[in-house]
Amino acid sequence: MSDQQEQVAVKEAPKTGFTPRIVAFTCNFCAYAAADLAGSTRTEYPVNIKLIRVPCTGRVDVVHILKAFENGADGVYVAGCLEGNCHFAEGNYWAKRRVRYAKKILDEIGIGARRLEMFNLSAAMFGRFVEVANIMNDRITEMGPSPLNK
Ligand code: FES
Repeated sequence: MSDQQEQVAVKEAPKTGFTPRIVAFTCNFCAYAAADLAGSTRTEYPVNIKLIRVPCTGRVDVVHILKAFENGADGVYVAGCLEGNCHFAEGNYWAKRRVRYAKKILDEIGIGARRLEMFNLSAAMFGRFVEVANIMNDRITEMGPSPLNK
């Protein structure tokens, strides 16, 4: 295992006896490709993160995010191209605004804004992809199940 792979190896989640269900909306051109690269290099990331491949994060609507929570997700994140690098010009900026809006709704309805996040990365950044997956897995594990799942 190389040094870089060792750095991004799966961190053990806090021992709470709870495995969160996390949905990640991943752009085909960056985060999904980075996940693929992580797989090719046998770099592990938490298996409880379900990837939904989208052509661009600009396609992810507030309704999709809220539906994910309604359908049992404890946490959701959107992973798009680096700012300025979206293949559809402004899709990731639209996604950023929608995530910000969805966070407000999640706070208002008692689910909590911290259960939702947006990240930007490139297709080559498989280490960052794994890091983001671990960040969200640790955060949601610590927070416990979504109020909708209790
Ligand atoms: Fe990747 Fe738009 S093409 S976020």
